[in-house]
Amino acid sequence: MADLTVLIRQALSEVAACGDLAALEEARVRWLGKKGTLTEELKALGSLTAAARPAAGARINAAKSEVQGAIEARRDALARAAIEGQLAAGRIDVTLPGRGEEPGGLHPVTQARLRIETLFRRAGFDVASGPEIEDDFHNFGALNIPPNHPARAMHDTFYFADGRLLRTHTSPVQIRALQEHGAPLAVIAPGRVYRCDSDMTHSPMFHQLEGVVVGEHISFANMKAALHGFLQAYFERDVAIRLRPSYFPFTEPSAEVDMSCVFCEGRGCRTCKHSGWLEVSGCGMMHPNVLKASGVDPERFTGYAFGAGIDRLAMLRYGVNDLRLFFENDLRFLRQFRRFSA
Ligand code: PHE
Repeated sequence: MADLTVLIRQALSEVAACGDLAALEEARVRWLGKKGTLTEELKALGSLTAAARPAAGARINAAKSEVQGAIEARRDALARAAIEGQLAAGRIDVTLPGRGEEPGGLHPVTQARLRIETLFRRAGFDVASGPEIEDDFHNFGALNIPPNHPARAMHDTFYFADGRLLRTHTSPVQIRALQEHGAPLAVIAPGRVYRCDSDMTHSPMFHQLEGVVVGEHISFANMKAALHGFLQAYFERDVAIRLRPSYFPFTEPSAEVDMSCVFCEGRGCRTCKHSGWLEVSGCGMMHPNVLKASGVDPERFTGYAFGAGIDRLAMLRYGVNDLRLFFENDLRFLRQFRRFSA
């Protein structure tokens, strides 16, 4: 019989040297297979004396199980290493920032709108909205602008074939809010409006802010105080306002609201065309016909309404001198507003 100690040492070192599962299987066959070295040793027991056989057999079996154990341990180690190798190769660092990632920001007009909403909510107003595709009644008729009224010509309306239209102002929300909630009521309605008009200072789509307050003792003075308070809060400074007589079919009396220029403090500059004043809103006491059309009793209730340009308010607050910049969506322009919050 060969020297078992030498054989075992040789078998163990071959097993340890196996680099993959295939090599390990070959080693197993070589040592423990049907014709394996240790198997042959067992077969050789027959040539021993009956007295020597049990002890020799026990030693060979112990050797076999030692080698078997080593092979199993090596197999586990190789399998684990194979899995770890796969994991390492396919590793993704999910904490790495994505490529080309850039945080967005709110459009300056949206920032202005949200800021306006916050200020009016603080003063007790609700925020209302209405459809951008309107019917003639809400956009014109109920606002005391009957068919063929000359005021219709001022509105450059986009019409649909069925007679509906893109609302030319947010004033139809006055009607809708009153029809829905009745009086008393205090709401603002910011939103998109459309006019077939496009040049340096006009865009076919722009944003208006409607304000409506209806109650039993609502006065012109209440309107003036609300507008003044809003402008001071919005621009975060003292501003002067003046009301110039004007005309709107849906208000009587009507006025244009001018505010002291926020760029030159009233001294005169390009923005205010050297007048010291900026026109920021139309306003007036709601016409009794408008209240009636909205289902409100004009003998009991009075109300005021105003309509301001949100784009213009945004331009004045952020110092933007060209309305078109708001609608071109040039990222070089929009990026400058990321740091602002509403
Ligand atoms: N709707 C008017 C416009 O678009 C503005 C306005 C609203 C005027 C409410 C008075 C009262 O020009």
